[in-house]
Amino acid sequence: MAEDFDVKMESKVYYPDPSIKETVRMGDYEAVYNEFIQDPQAYWEKVANELKWMQKWDKVMEWDHPYARWFVNSKLNITQNCLDRHVHNGKKNKVAIIWVGDGGEERVFTYRQLYREVMRCANGLKSMGVKKGDAVCIYMPLVPEQIILTLACARIGAIHSIVFAGFGTQALNSRIKDSNAKIVVTADATIRRGKRVELKAIVEEAVVNAPSVEKIVVLRRMTPPMELYSEMEVDYHEMLSDIPECGPEVMDAEDPLFILYTSGTTGPAKGIVHTCGGYMVGAYYSTRNVFDLRDNDVFWCTADPGWITGHSYIIYGPLLNGGTVLITESTPDYPDAGVWWSIIDEFDVTIFYTAPTAIRMFMRMGADWPNKYDLGSLRLLGSVGEPLNPEAFEWYYHVIGKERCPIVDTWWQTETGMHMITTMAGQPMKPGFIGKSLPGVVADVVDKNGVPVPAGTGGFLVIKEPWPSMMRTVHNNDERYRQYWTTIGKYYTAGDLAVKDDDGYIMILGRSDDVIIVAGHNIGSAEVESALVSNAAVAEAAVIGKPHPLKGEILKAFVILRVGYTPSEKLKSELIYHVRMSLGPIAMPSEIDFVDSLPKTRSGKIMRRVLRAKELGMDPGDVSTLED
Ligand code: WT7
Repeated sequence: MAEDFDVKMESKVYYPDPSIKETVRMGDYEAVYNEFIQDPQAYWEKVANELKWMQKWDKVMEWDHPYARWFVNSKLNITQNCLDRHVHNGKKNKVAIIWVGDGGEERVFTYRQLYREVMRCANGLKSMGVKKGDAVCIYMPLVPEQIILTLACARIGAIHSIVFAGFGTQALNSRIKDSNAKIVVTADATIRRGKRVELKAIVEEAVVNAPSVEKIVVLRRMTPPMELYSEMEVDYHEMLSDIPECGPEVMDAEDPLFILYTSGTTGPAKGIVHTCGGYMVGAYYSTRNVFDLRDNDVFWCTADPGWITGHSYIIYGPLLNGGTVLITESTPDYPDAGVWWSIIDEFDVTIFYTAPTAIRMFMRMGADWPNKYDLGSLRLLGSVGEPLNPEAFEWYYHVIGKERCPIVDTWWQTETGMHMITTMAGQPMKPGFIGKSLPGVVADVVDKNGVPVPAGTGGFLVIKEPWPSMMRTVHNNDERYRQYWTTIGKYYTAGDLAVKDDDGYIMILGRSDDVIIVAGHNIGSAEVESALVSNAAVAEAAVIGKPHPLKGEILKAFVILRVGYTPSEKLKSELIYHVRMSLGPIAMPSEIDFVDSLPKTRSGKIMRRVLRAKELGMDPGDVSTLED
């Protein structure tokens, strides 16, 4: 399998300055990993004991394949660990959140301020009838209120379902319906590159045919304030209670904390369910050790809380550790290509965590931009979401990190909740390779029967043992959950193809399914296809990922038109616009080909693999199941 990918196994090795290994918490990777593997449960128990629990567990873990229960019968509230713990332990006036707007505006929340706002918001939600176990959909721009709402839900035991504000009507509607959200919270608009982008208008359309929704809460940021129409709409500030006190709801470790949708191979997006106890331990642990987060750090993760990266490494992980996080609504190239570097300079950001797509974009814009600014505050760099190609690694390492900062390329998924594979700071780094299992995780590369493949041979990436922040189910589709653990032996199948080198360093080769990763965002081909087919002109559609120098992959659609429609450039634009409106800009096909037929199996399944091979001029491989 590896041959198909033209894998270059030799890699340059960068040996970090020995002082890094000596100072970071997990400098002695081998020793820590050994400690874990000797007694996994004792290892995780030690981590859990660093946090506050209302009642401790009877048992660290119970494993009834494929179902795990972690910290059995313990009680907690994650916000008590994110807020109360710090406020009552000398961090009242420490900065929790620094927000920078699209036009450079600033807002700062200390832990005390954040704590009070969360409790006011929690009381507000309660007054609207939100109770433990109810779902709240958060469709917000990247402003502090997005985080406040998330924590407010957790405070009262409501299940948050954050939907990235770049998604369109159809995508939002299906997520609201699947989660059964009682309340949808949004803002009038977000500001991108100086321009207002409407959000509430999308919500208005998305709640049609979503009978669970009782109220829409609107954060009005613009002047003059947008009018709120029906009885259904409530102003965010009016919802907030005057009472800044709201005790934490007692949650069982296995109570759901949130649902987060991620694209699947087939059918609609999957609602990944994470629970309170295990997720808390995983987010806390990985932030603390992979980023080595310290009290005087300023941590900037450029994701949006609408993705798992934002859940774990903007909101929960850093706040569980009492850290300072920076967030921004700004885009990396507005007002100019230096804006992000100016933010690092201005706020003395010490840890910077971004996606390869962004790094490649910065590379293209040239080193002059970062070189204008003082990036001396940086001490650790991170990457996530898609393979960090060696060229991008080199640029990040030399131009941004000035050969001083270790790079942690972190492999994980919405489903895993936390980092699973990386090269811990202080360890030798190999551009192109992510690294090894985090202590606490047992990852491997195996064949389809679950047998480990030798170094240099491609195979399937699996996780062999349960871990605290693993997803517990797929909302409304437990069968789909079971598939993750029953496809390759009894292991968790990640859906990625990978290869190991002689030192056990893992390289990701790509997905083994039809999930396409565009600019670090997971897009299911099936979702885009069904959006296309919902247009009156389209009879059938197939969508594939096509390699792209900047975005990793772009979407290419093959479309069969219905009788009566003729191919034209105008129709192409119409179809692209149609997908944009229903799924959002991130799912827009970059190319459309009109075709007369699609390669299918005899059972009628579209063979996207064949389309992809043809498009790339490659051998389509085994086509014995092809219809003709
Ligand atoms: C898929 C998961 C985890 C947060 C963002 C994406 C790909 C993720 C890496 C990496 C190569 C990566 C995988 C994975 N991926 N991180 N460091 N190197 N590929 O979360 O949307 O759930 O997507 O993203 O293919 O399966 P997600």
